[in-house]
Amino acid sequence: MKVLVTGGAGYIGSHTCVELINSSIDTVVLDNLCNSSEKSLDRVREITGTSPVFYKGDVRDEALLERIFSENEFDCVIHFAGLKCVPESVKKPAEYYENNLGSTLVLCKVMARHGCKRLVFSSSATVYSAVNEMPLKEDSIKGDCTNPYGWTKYMGERILTDIATADPEWAIALLRYFNPIGAHESGLIGEDPRGIPNNLMPFIAQTAVGRRDRLTVFGNDYNTKDGTGVRDYLHVVDLAKGHVAAIGYIMEHKGAEPINLGTGTGISVLDMVETFKQVNQVDVPYGFGPRRAGDVATCYAQADKAKRLLGWRAEKTLEDMCRDTWRWQSSNPDGYGE
Ligand code: NAD
Ligand code: UFG
Repeated sequence: MKVLVTGGAGYIGSHTCVELINSSIDTVVLDNLCNSSEKSLDRVREITGTSPVFYKGDVRDEALLERIFSENEFDCVIHFAGLKCVPESVKKPAEYYENNLGSTLVLCKVMARHGCKRLVFSSSATVYSAVNEMPLKEDSIKGDCTNPYGWTKYMGERILTDIATADPEWAIALLRYFNPIGAHESGLIGEDPRGIPNNLMPFIAQTAVGRRDRLTVFGNDYNTKDGTGVRDYLHVVDLAKGHVAAIGYIMEHKGAEPINLGTGTGISVLDMVETFKQVNQVDVPYGFGPRRAGDVATCYAQADKAKRLLGWRAEKTLEDMCRDTWRWQSSNPDGYGE
């Protein structure tokens, strides 16, 4: 079995490479390194003993993709490559639509030309409308996205669903991730955001290690148990294993299938800060600030479809997520150092 992983040097991609290699799957990475470091792939080799084959380049480069597909016979593709920063997408919408949709369109064109019609797509809980009751089910209402990034995932799902409808040979898993956090338990790979982190866990970790003075908790007046935002955080290694399970599914089932990957449990910002402090015995100074535009109070998954279809469920605990994040952050205070 041979798999092309676009965006494989990134946060979720590098953890997925480890799980693919550990499952004896030949792993080929295509990444332009616009938001990652090639060092992550060296670390994948350190963990697994095997280097993924690496092509440096852009998924939108059709000539390059054509060459990669001519040099390799892939059973399927996992498509992580894309831009993912919500506030940046508000400032640079055209760049987001061009990258996230352009890469998906070129990839599908070249895949079809080479008769490779199995795809795992990185979607997001952001495709769900804020009007839904919790937990979010795969058939909950979608749309009303609050930012261009969210729309690129919504439209990406639409494009892929239409492709699978037009040509019933396609098998596509639309994996809707909730909030991936944590790091490989070796501490060798983890999340290394450029600039000031937008997301909670990297901000907590950088505060604990002294790179940030203090965390601002965005809002403590939500209708939640302690007034702070509630999310469904899942360990990135569990998420990576979900991709291996999804490959098993699309080898056997055609069509485009949306599947939530989450734990089904809501955790508040204060739960997260307190667990991180307690598990790691470190201080995380914080203060309260106003709500962040576009945030919802609560977001968590109904996770039973993944169990039913993929035989997958998240196994790691919140303590594991906090411990593994800290092992990565404290042994790599500047991430990959780029
Ligand atoms: P990441 O930025 O660490 O990884 C994305 C990788 O894609 C990077 O290595 C980047 O260099 C590469 N890339 C971007 N555009 C490219 C292009 N045109 N050609 C080649 N390579 C390109 O992000 P991540 O957190 O690992 O996310 C992976 C995927 O999962 C993304 O599609 C993201 O939108 C999606 N997702 C992430 C989250 C999250 O919270 N991390 C949640 C839901 C969905
Ligand atoms: N938060 C803070 N302080 C911070 C950062 C975050 O209090 O410095 C809070 C947020 O207000 C929210 C919670 O922590 O209540 C989680 O915020 P994140 O930014 O970590 O995660 P989001 O759920 O807001 O966003 C994530 C992904 C997006 C995706 C979205 C919906 O980062 O890409 O889920 O799926 F669009």
